[in-house]
Amino acid sequence: MIQAKNGRISNIVISTALGLGGRGIFPYTLLPGYRRLLRAARETESSILAKSATRHKRSGNFRAWNPLTWKYIRRLPGGGMLNAYGLTNPGAEACAREIQVGATQGLQVIPNLYPEFAKGTVLAINDTLAAVEIYRRILGPDFWALELNFSCPNSEEAIRDNVAQGLKCSRDVKEKYPGLFLIAKISICHPHEFAQELESLGVQALHAVNTIPFAMIYPQKRSPLAAVGGGGVARRPAFAAALQYNTELRKKVSLPLIMGCGVRNRQDIETYLDIGADAVSFCTLALRRPQEAAEIILKFNG
Ligand SMILES: Cc1cc2nc3c(=O)[nH]c(=O)nc-3n(C[C@H](O)[C@H](O)[C@H](O)COP(=O)(O)O)c2cc1C
Repeated sequence: MIQAKNGRISNIVISTALGLGGRGIFPYTLLPGYRRLLRAARETESSILAKSATRHKRSGNFRAWNPLTWKYIRRLPGGGMLNAYGLTNPGAEACAREIQVGATQGLQVIPNLYPEFAKGTVLAINDTLAAVEIYRRILGPDFWALELNFSCPNSEEAIRDNVAQGLKCSRDVKEKYPGLFLIAKISICHPHEFAQELESLGVQALHAVNTIPFAMIYPQKRSPLAAVGGGGVARRPAFAAALQYNTELRKKVSLPLIMGCGVRNRQDIETYLDIGADAVSFCTLALRRPQEAAEIILKFNG
């Protein structure tokens, strides 16, 4: 668990899989196991990291209402999942209103914002600050923490090159909102020095790591989503690489770490805890085996 001044982050964190507002994604909400997971999250006051919003509405690759775009999320052999979702969302204001409804139902949702650095650093940071203001206005005291996503492998912004932008953005958010608990979600492509610099400028926690670019897990293969950058690999095939990265990361920073990527069962959670995770996240487990995800939540967060 991660204890902060105005809130706490539970031992196990559900990342993205409960949607932009943290209240569940249709049509998963039709599944009894997924609804059980939502109930377990509410009962145990588990932390939910929302799916990424951008300041303004954004149309990515995947759009739930268009079957032609469903190919951007697909299964991989060996229990993996590949996605090039591309951050489709209705914008921060609509997401904040969703989160607000969840809060009235007892859900502990932490918003996630994606700074659109491809628009230019200044504009991206101004948009991020404007979005923070929106969350403050709409969520009031329920808005105590924010996750900044610097690690989406499916967007046009190159992860490796966004280090300086990510640092500037974090610094500006910290300066303007010193009381906000800031979580940076980083990528396996980021050097560990990025994490160290985020720590030294006052970011309170890191979430490592996001999905892993296809080419890193399968260097000999061509991604079925090559046309849109290759996509990010989640779940089983990503676990070993994420574990290795996080083992090194733990030696290099002392701020709280939410470790995740590739978690399939309790044992994987124990493995992350053993290497020094302060909290562990999962995403695709909640989509693929929600009943088991609910049991894990009840065991570790109950
Ligand atoms: C379909 C899909 C969409 C995702 N969208 C986001 C997102 O919007 N923002 C984000 O920070 N992470 C996103 N993620 C990454 C997950 O939150 C998680 O970090 C990643 O899948 C690795 O964990 P897992 O192996 O438990 O799934 C997404 C993952 C998937 C599979």
